[in-house]
Amino acid sequence: MASELEGRVALITGGGGEIGGAIARRFVEAGAAVVIADINRETAEVLAGEIVMANGPAVAVRTNVTIEQDAERAVRHAIEAFGKLTTLVNVAATVTPDGTVETLTLADWNAALGVNLTGAFLMCKYAVPALRKAGGGTIVNIASQLGQIGIAGRAPYTTSKAALIQFTRSLAVDHAADGIRANSLSPGGIDTARILRRFKNREEANRARGPAYLLGRPGRAEEVAEAALFLASEQSSFMTGADLLLDGGYLAFKGHRPAKDPS
Ligand SMILES: NC(=O)c1ccc[n+]([C@@H]2O[C@H](COP(=O)([O-])OP(=O)(O)OC[C@H]3O[C@@H](n4cnc5c(N)ncnc54)[C@H](O)[C@@H]3O)[C@@H](O)[C@H]2O)c1
Repeated sequence: MASELEGRVALITGGGGEIGGAIARRFVEAGAAVVIADINRETAEVLAGEIVMANGPAVAVRTNVTIEQDAERAVRHAIEAFGKLTTLVNVAATVTPDGTVETLTLADWNAALGVNLTGAFLMCKYAVPALRKAGGGTIVNIASQLGQIGIAGRAPYTTSKAALIQFTRSLAVDHAADGIRANSLSPGGIDTARILRRFKNREEANRARGPAYLLGRPGRAEEVAEAALFLASEQSSFMTGADLLLDGGYLAFKGHRPAKDPS
């Protein structure tokens, strides 16, 4: 069995969700102990239970990343459960409302930035001293391809993700000397339930979105997990302050991909 994360303890916010869950499962396969921190206690506990049933090391902790005491408690919980913390993956994000500056409320804006950006700040605030104490570690912040482009009606989301990419660079600069590497990971559209608020079902979503990707399809949560493993492990030992784009070629071109047979 591969052991890229042997001896590591990873705290994954939003770990009860689809991408966070795929990351947790992949990290356990790679030898890590995982702490699944999510505002949704049930999904976090179900996943931790599933991992433990399969003899994997996992605990769940209900965490609202916008609440400072929760962030502090999640880190403390990791140390109590597994003795240290070596890896933080910030996956938690809220579903942000669509609109423009004229229609969005201040509360909409603050809620989006509160979870997607300030949540990551609070988690890092408590995780960094623990990572330093462990002799160094890695931080992976899940951003989005939409952190790099403008898209109609999505300012709260795109701004939060762009800021998360920049925050990651700052983390890398501030904590390189502590042996902490910080990178962001920007997925393109991923086939998760999150998309169902824009489409009838996943099949329709994939059919509609496919042509926007050079690879002809949105990505899968497991593909994001593989990239997160790369960033969390020594496989990426010379990477810090970077953003890894995992978008099936979405940002590489504008328009529909060329048909196989141009005639
Ligand atoms: N699905 C996609 O197409 C896609 C594309 C690019 C980036 N992303 C990013 O990937 C991440 C995961 O997306 P997903 O599709 O798995 O969504 P998801 O909704 O399944 O997962 C998000 C998780 O975050 C949790 N969460 C929400 N608010 C929280 C809070 N305040 N505190 C703690 N946890 C909270 C939710 O309960 C949920 O479990 C997000 O950061 C999202 O922006 C997703």
